[in-house]
Amino acid sequence: MQTHTTASAVLGSPLKINSLEIKNRILLGPMAVLRPTEDGRPSPQSIAFLRRRARGGVGLVFVGGAVASERAWNESPFFPNVRFDKDEFVPDLARMVDAVHDAGAAIFAQIFPSFGRMGVPRNGAHPIAASPKPVVLGAAGFPDHVYVPGGRVTPPPTEATADDIAQVQADVVSAARRAKDAGFDGVEIGAHMCYFYSSFLSPLANKRTDEYGGSAENRARALRDAVAAVRAEVGPDYPVGIRMSVNDHMPGGQGPEGFAEVAAHIVTAGVDFISLSEANYESMAENVPSRSGNMLAHGEPQAFRAAVGGIPLFLSSTPDPQQAADAISAGHADATMLARQLLADPDYANKVIEGREGDIVWCDHANSCMRRLMTNIPVACHKNPKMGREDPGAKRSTALQNVFVWAAGNALLMKIADVAAKAAPKPKH
Ligand SMILES: Cc1cc2nc3c(=O)[nH]c(=O)nc-3n(C[C@H](O)[C@H](O)[C@H](O)COP(=O)(O)O)c2cc1C
Ligand code: SF4
Repeated sequence: MQTHTTASAVLGSPLKINSLEIKNRILLGPMAVLRPTEDGRPSPQSIAFLRRRARGGVGLVFVGGAVASERAWNESPFFPNVRFDKDEFVPDLARMVDAVHDAGAAIFAQIFPSFGRMGVPRNGAHPIAASPKPVVLGAAGFPDHVYVPGGRVTPPPTEATADDIAQVQADVVSAARRAKDAGFDGVEIGAHMCYFYSSFLSPLANKRTDEYGGSAENRARALRDAVAAVRAEVGPDYPVGIRMSVNDHMPGGQGPEGFAEVAAHIVTAGVDFISLSEANYESMAENVPSRSGNMLAHGEPQAFRAAVGGIPLFLSSTPDPQQAADAISAGHADATMLARQLLADPDYANKVIEGREGDIVWCDHANSCMRRLMTNIPVACHKNPKMGREDPGAKRSTALQNVFVWAAGNALLMKIADVAAKAAPKPKH
């Protein structure tokens, strides 16, 4: 492994992902902040947001807030999304890719098949998942300054049939082909949080007794088959990875070793990287933590390294550059993937690599961005007034929406709203 000691040397060193070399090890994580057009095409703001982060020095950007199927478009809790589900979107996607390349970064698409347990029944369609297990939002805790008065339980999804699983896989393959056609440098299949493929990975959400449930090998099957089918479509040299959950953080749930065992069955189908995703919607406090190095403290990258060998692992939520560099030097991970920190400071990567850490604008983890996302208000960052306005014509939130976002982060107001919501008569079914 490496012998660099400084954060700038380690994080500034190139990384090989299959046939692609990225210039450094600081990555922009996928985020549904792109504000595409109402019909799901990248907008000038989508492009300006990504280009700004590419200019700020990251080696690779991920396009999040995207959908790979009409099903996902219809059932999304967040909208609009960037569409990969029809060929007609390829020229628009290509414009976004070109802009990021011009700004000096590589770009991967998150291929997002279906919202699974988080899907919203809409337009006559019902969400599907491994088993009909609803999500009890925040059952094991919400992130700091995020409150959901009265709590929320999603409608139970329908158990996916073998035909459903085959259809999702076909959608994933087609979307990956479109991403490649549009010039994306690689793809990741989303299998995290409580989304479709994630619902298969842990026995907590997967109660099946067929070949998709039970043993780790069986729970890996749906995602492993999807990876193999994508690999057959895009060829051996094209970077293909997965974003997967690494720990349920729930009583009776699966821990890092269990998820890593599942991952070991999946990687044999041709995985070039794993983007490690902490916890899920039931354990949201761990998914968007307020401390750097949460994953390392839980031993999750370490467990994956032991199970999958040298496959590049992307560490999440470790904005402390030295901590990330030390983890890479120790062999626990290969790159640091950041989300909120790069909303707060798009120049973080350049500052780290140039040894200007004193200039970094730090994310405060007060999560007003999350509150906006969860209520479908255009995402902004109070530490970076230019975030969400990278394109001068970008739509902004209204004054009323801004007051709502403030109120939704106020502990006392939310305590009152919680008591009122719990006391309100429940709708009769
Ligand atoms: C506003 C916002 C939108 C997000 N949208 C997505 C998304 O579309 N896809 C995804 O995989 N993760 C999404 N995430 C999760 C992040 O990629 C990341 O896993 C999480 O924020 C923890 O990383 P951090 O501590 O660096 O913020 C989103 C996070 C935020 C704050
Ligand atoms: S609003 Fe900005 S500073 Fe606050 S948590 Fe989100 S990214 Fe960080």
